[in-house]
Amino acid sequence: MSEQPFLYVVVCAAGVAAGVGELIGAARERGWAAGVIATPAAMNGFFDTAAATALTGRPVRSAWRTPADPRPFPPPDAVVVAPATFNTINKWAAGIADTLALGTLCEAAGLGVPIAALPCVTGALASHPAYGSSLRRLREMGVRFGEPYSGEPGPDGGRTDFGWQRALDLVEPG
Ligand SMILES: Cc1cc2nc3c(=O)[nH]c(=O)nc-3n(C[C@H](O)[C@H](O)[C@H](O)COP(=O)(O)O)c2cc1C
Repeated sequence: MSEQPFLYVVVCAAGVAAGVGELIGAARERGWAAGVIATPAAMNGFFDTAAATALTGRPVRSAWRTPADPRPFPPPDAVVVAPATFNTINKWAAGIADTLALGTLCEAAGLGVPIAALPCVTGALASHPAYGSSLRRLREMGVRFGEPYSGEPGPDGGRTDFGWQRALDLVEPG
């Protein structure tokens, strides 16, 4: 591991992604350097990419590099995907690598680094049979999951806390 461990933060297109700065800030406070890799859909206004660039000191990545370009980030010491959408979880479990974010996730297990996912999936989508199979398959690959989060209002009508820092707890040595 390098002097300062490097964390890949994969961001998907869920409404809660607007708060990802909380995760990046907490990671920096806990001693991680970080790089953000967003799905193409997440680049479409789901979070403040300029703020993420300022917080990490590196451009947010979403597109594949050209063969002539160097790798933009150092190799990861850990990978977190937060928020993780229904779409990305199912494609990841199926081994689809048609975006930089999915390619990064598909490769991560083979690198032997800790991987954590914080799903943000509504109850209606989570009831689709593909979703349960995908979670099982990813768990078998060693992916550590945060508590289920639906993005729906809590019992008092308000939003419940997404718990961004849980992603760090899951990848840091206990
Ligand atoms: C405002 C908005 C909020 C969304 N929130 C979620 C969400 O919380 N969870 C989810 O799985 N999909 C959500 N979606 C749908 C995803 O954006 C959509 O499935 C997209 O294809 C996901 O792409 P990605 O997995 O590549 O990021 C939302 C869409 C919109 C427009």
